[in-house]
Amino acid sequence: FHIIHIAAEMAPVAKVGGLGDVVTGLSKALQKKGHLVEIVLPKYDCMQYERIGDLRVLDVIVESYFDGQLFKNKVWVGTIEGLPVYFIEPHHPDKFFWRGQFYGERDDFKRFSFFSRAALELILQADKKPDIIHCHDWQTAFIAPLYWDLYVHKGLNSARICFTCHNFEYQGTAHASDLASCGLDVHLNRPDRMQDNSAHDKVNPVKGAVVFSNIVTTVSPTYAQEVRTAEGGKGLHTTLSSHSRKFVGILNGIDTDAWNPATDAFIKVQYNADDLQGKVENKEAIRKHLGLSSENSRQPLVGCITRLVPQKGVHLIRHAIYRTLELGGQFILLGSSPVSHIQSEFEGIANHFQSHPHIRLILKYDEALSHSIYAASDMFIIPSIFEPCGLTQMIAMRYGSVPIVRKTGGLNDSVFDIDDDTIPLQFRNGFTFLTPDEQGVNSALERAFNHYTNNSENWQQLVEKDMAIDFSWDSSASQYEELYAKSVARARTAAN
Ligand code: ADP
Ligand code: GLC
Repeated sequence: FHIIHIAAEMAPVAKVGGLGDVVTGLSKALQKKGHLVEIVLPKYDCMQYERIGDLRVLDVIVESYFDGQLFKNKVWVGTIEGLPVYFIEPHHPDKFFWRGQFYGERDDFKRFSFFSRAALELILQADKKPDIIHCHDWQTAFIAPLYWDLYVHKGLNSARICFTCHNFEYQGTAHASDLASCGLDVHLNRPDRMQDNSAHDKVNPVKGAVVFSNIVTTVSPTYAQEVRTAEGGKGLHTTLSSHSRKFVGILNGIDTDAWNPATDAFIKVQYNADDLQGKVENKEAIRKHLGLSSENSRQPLVGCITRLVPQKGVHLIRHAIYRTLELGGQFILLGSSPVSHIQSEFEGIANHFQSHPHIRLILKYDEALSHSIYAASDMFIIPSIFEPCGLTQMIAMRYGSVPIVRKTGGLNDSVFDIDDDTIPLQFRNGFTFLTPDEQGVNSALERAFNHYTNNSENWQQLVEKDMAIDFSWDSSASQYEELYAKSVARARTAAN
């Protein structure tokens, strides 16, 4: 197939969270299976340009409509991790992607509806005939209604549209009048189309994508169930239930080349499951680097790497830091928050523990340090309130850091409790708890500490087992491949 992903993030050059990892990981896996995979991104000023290969301007200017006018877009092409990527640079006075950050701007709706329309123009004007256009999250959710409402009439009609929602918390809802900017018609503001389910004067891009796409996925089977319920669906449960037949949850994988302790250039000592001495040395190194006590190499080190947003259970993360200290462990948190009161709360905690021998909080985005923490930690905590998939538990296991997670979403599909007799022994790989409160965290954290302290041989076996689990994209990419194939076949049958 010819598959074009359109997205707002792509690791490692433009990454905020897991979305960036998934766009790169899934694309690489599909390319490896023999498909022609291309990606379209905005040309942000704040990308890591040094990690884009052969970046050059194409000699086509793509014109796209917005707010009643045509704008010229410069298009760049380059490679990221061996994948061909197009970057759209709009010539618009608002300098949409010249803001020093990927999102969080007041005009995000405008920025990304402009981008969605321009991406479709690029495909049309470059005369590409993809079989699949795969869009991700609300920023590119406009693609589905735009495609069926406008572009099939313009002759771009080879493609099936796949939409993956990585998080139903972010739906990009805006005032209905904003829809017209990118050329979408007001008739879409209807309850069975893009109208928000709780406000009639609002339009909801994610709802639009669910209604108009041929394939709708989310990033784990458990989350796909949760969002069909009133508590989990963030207002879209009825829409998802009525489009149930085309909606499925596929567990993400991780990029096992980028996340490989045996070859990782970011970590002090490379290691593998057969020789864990390197892991001990990484623990030693990070303790020195961060000024933590390294008196006792058997003192358990808990890691946590996360966006600090309510979804991640920030109050439970805070509790886990204090509880770890009481239990005699060490804790390293790497995270940052787009929410200012959360950021300042954690800055307060970071200052409080500034030169503490056992606790360190580093409140920024730091890719290199994240690798060192996965490699150094013995345990990794993720007490999420909800979690569509979660990648950090998989990365942690790949680096031999045993996950302690709340049973929700993708965490429930990838972490199975050591003491859960209903799960076959060979699949048990971590510690889980259900109730999202301090007792819940305590119960799992304390069991983890007991296992670690009282039975080092069993612990080592657990570490080796976790490192051997296959979290690669292989099988998940095959599931996407199957969905694409079925949808393309259906379209061909209908056309004949
Ligand atoms: P989400 O997408 O909800 O943030 P995921 O678990 O899917 O959560 O993905 C998070 C990704 O972002 C992981 O690759 C993780 O290592 C990375 N990450 C999160 N916070 C930071 C940070 N402060 N510094 C470096 N990497 C981070
Ligand atoms: C979202 C979700 C996270 C998921 C990631 C990649 O950011 O919060 O759970 O792993 O997308 O799909």
